[in-house]
Amino acid sequence: MDINKLKILFTEEQIQARIKELADEMNEFYGNDEVYAICVLKGAVMFAVDLVKHLNMPIKMEFIRLSSYNGGTSTSGKVNAVDISLPDLNEKNVLIIEDIVDTGLTAKFLLDFLNCNFHTKSTKFCSLLDKKITRIADVDADYYGFEVDDKFLIGYGLDYDGYYRNLRYIGYVEKDAL
Ligand code: IMP
Repeated sequence: MDINKLKILFTEEQIQARIKELADEMNEFYGNDEVYAICVLKGAVMFAVDLVKHLNMPIKMEFIRLSSYNGGTSTSGKVNAVDISLPDLNEKNVLIIEDIVDTGLTAKFLLDFLNCNFHTKSTKFCSLLDKKITRIADVDADYYGFEVDDKFLIGYGLDYDGYYRNLRYIGYVEKDAL
């Protein structure tokens, strides 16, 4: 992929401003109640780190690792739990933090996993990006930053073949330029 063909979709300023708005909504919802913020690695790492900095309630951060991509730009359609070790979440507020909901299979897998294993006090799903148009599983994010079209997005945690997660903005390349 030629990085020079990357077109900016959301600037660093837009992303940070939207994160602050999401955090304000969450501060309102949770008040001073403790929250377990579960960051889905690797893609959500930037978003999770920036989001929790604006949250005012007591937070415990957990990190889990799932994978569904084949390495390039296509999903395998099968979610693998690479590392899903979590503490006891019974009677806890759980906030899942994802980079993007695409087919929704990852979100569904995770929500089913939590439902099967814990009786949480609340479970909320937050994704920076929501590609509603490509949804297969019947899931919706409780909080999302931006709705996006069916483009392959790169940057701010989202990778192309492992690269470009470190970009401060989110961009896309036309499919024929990949
Ligand atoms: P889903 O299971 O199809 O909803 O996909 C979820 C995962 O696929 C995300 O957490 C991302 O890691 C990856 N993904 C989906 N769309 C994109 C994209 O446009 N760019 C980079 N990664 C993506």
